[in-house]
Amino acid sequence: MCGIVGYIGWREAAPLLLKGLKRLEYRGYDSAGVALLNESLLVMKQKGSVSGLEAATEGLSAEMKAATVGIGHTRWATHGEPSDINAHPHQNTVGDIAVIHNGIIENYSVLKQELISQDYKFSSDTDSEVLVHLIDRIWKSDSSLDLESATRNALRHVDGAYGICVISSREPDKIIVARKGSPLVIGIGTGEYFIASDAAPIVEHTNKVVYLSDGELAVVKKDSYVVKTIDNIEQEKIVTELDFSLEKIEKGGFEHFMLKEIFEQPAVMHDVMRGRVRLEEGRICLGGIEDYLDRLKHAKRIVICACGTSWHAALIGEYLIEEFARIPVEVDYASEFRYRNPIVGVDDVVILISQSGETADTLAALRTAKEKGALVMGICNVVGSTIARETLCGMYTHAGPEVGVASTKAFTAQVIMLYMLALALSRGRTLSQDEITINLRELSRLPEKASRILELDSQIKDIAESFKDARNALYLGRGYNFPVALEGALKLKEISYIHAEGYPAAEMKHGPIALIDRDMPVIFIATRDSTYAKILSNIEEVRSRKGRVIAIANEGDQEVSRLAEHVIYIPQSSGPITPLLTVIPLQLLAYHIATLRGCNVDRPRNLAKSVTVE
Ligand code: G6P
Repeated sequence: MCGIVGYIGWREAAPLLLKGLKRLEYRGYDSAGVALLNESLLVMKQKGSVSGLEAATEGLSAEMKAATVGIGHTRWATHGEPSDINAHPHQNTVGDIAVIHNGIIENYSVLKQELISQDYKFSSDTDSEVLVHLIDRIWKSDSSLDLESATRNALRHVDGAYGICVISSREPDKIIVARKGSPLVIGIGTGEYFIASDAAPIVEHTNKVVYLSDGELAVVKKDSYVVKTIDNIEQEKIVTELDFSLEKIEKGGFEHFMLKEIFEQPAVMHDVMRGRVRLEEGRICLGGIEDYLDRLKHAKRIVICACGTSWHAALIGEYLIEEFARIPVEVDYASEFRYRNPIVGVDDVVILISQSGETADTLAALRTAKEKGALVMGICNVVGSTIARETLCGMYTHAGPEVGVASTKAFTAQVIMLYMLALALSRGRTLSQDEITINLRELSRLPEKASRILELDSQIKDIAESFKDARNALYLGRGYNFPVALEGALKLKEISYIHAEGYPAAEMKHGPIALIDRDMPVIFIATRDSTYAKILSNIEEVRSRKGRVIAIANEGDQEVSRLAEHVIYIPQSSGPITPLLTVIPLQLLAYHIATLRGCNVDRPRNLAKSVTVE
């Protein structure tokens, strides 16, 4: 999510780091910082863009301008709002060690308490700051240690994901880097090395790189580098040659951000659930709402307000919460809610869902609900966003920055959040422990199933080829897949400009059936659940009117293949999980149809990523 750069060599480090950070800004953009090392160590960091930081570095001292060692970070907040103090690098109290970190330290609060009890003072709200104090404590406790071994020992205490760079004025000739779950690349120059979280900042300097693997730590000096395991066993590394264009690298090798974000979904699913889905304990842990869980469980009613794709996620949330927790749920467009003098009061909970956390209508709905005394809760992706700040409690989706205007990974992250919320509200009330465990197991299998669906990309591209000239399309689904039909239709119209409608399949006969002819593609979500037989009848009805059917069905389903022109097979799963899987082929279908029509999928006409006006 965040971006890391590092440099050690013979050039002035500051301009090189800043340029590298600019290349990484697409990954995170709420704050940035650098640490420069010459005789002494200097950290400069601030909220805002890299350009702001660049302006601030104009007044650097001659010593720091001449520094040839440094590390830099551009942040996309996870723990702690975007601010100067929460920006990286973080320093130990005496200021001779600096650390930058990507990822999430899951056990940071235990480590933080432990360090506080040993008189360590924390200046930020981040999980990352524990790393620098931990390294400091370990290094202080044993004079035989060096920066490398102190870092290694510190990492042994850490659970979670990290990509880190560590420097110290006590050992100014090196940068220590380590990786677990968060990528790091070392670029090999002549008498210099470049470090980054992906190749984007490196490629203009060298095309020779070494990718660190999980559980590896490297000591990088200006004329050598050594890679070891966390257990101190030296590793032979293969030097890889980069053959990417810069633009492609920023998109991780994908043609568009939207495609990259669709493909990120298995990883995002892991990130959303990390530390929250506790299969062994048989429970869900949602830190951001823990203190309000009782009030939420006893709500008279839950109202969910959102816009666009987030509103579709809300609809799935309604099905999930009502089915699992048996609490009445109402879903409203934020723009309607705010203007219709809604009946909400102190016994109600109003949940606001927003990727950006800035959508004007959703924010206004939040303020209306607050005024009326409801408990307001947020589900946002952008940490520190206005909706996140103004809600009483909430949860972050941790989906990472979403750049493509058409929302994809943020949607799946929102639905998972709602799934986890529904389970948390049911525990000890409406679902037995066995039922909870079955659901947790289903959730934990989700990323692997999503990866299998992504393997169907080229099949879906072929299907897109035969529908790229359509002028209209109909998406039909029932139950949990009705909101997916809406979302599939929205994806298509947003980026391909083909008119598309989503309907509950049974509603087809009350109007849309009049539109069906041989030019009308009809996309059915026909997974095996309680309404499967009815969906098959709906498909027959379309076929007998010569409509062209594309079906999303479960692997092994022969029945559907008999009826549909194209079938996209997805893994079997329980009903409530299916929307998280069925949406993926629909995202890919829309993407491929749009690119085949030559549309700018990342920036579709007339749309904006964050709609901060009414
Ligand atoms: C815009 C975007 C959509 C998004 C909607 C709501 O219309 O183009 O992709 O779903 O806003 O945004 P939010 O940030 O509140 O989820």
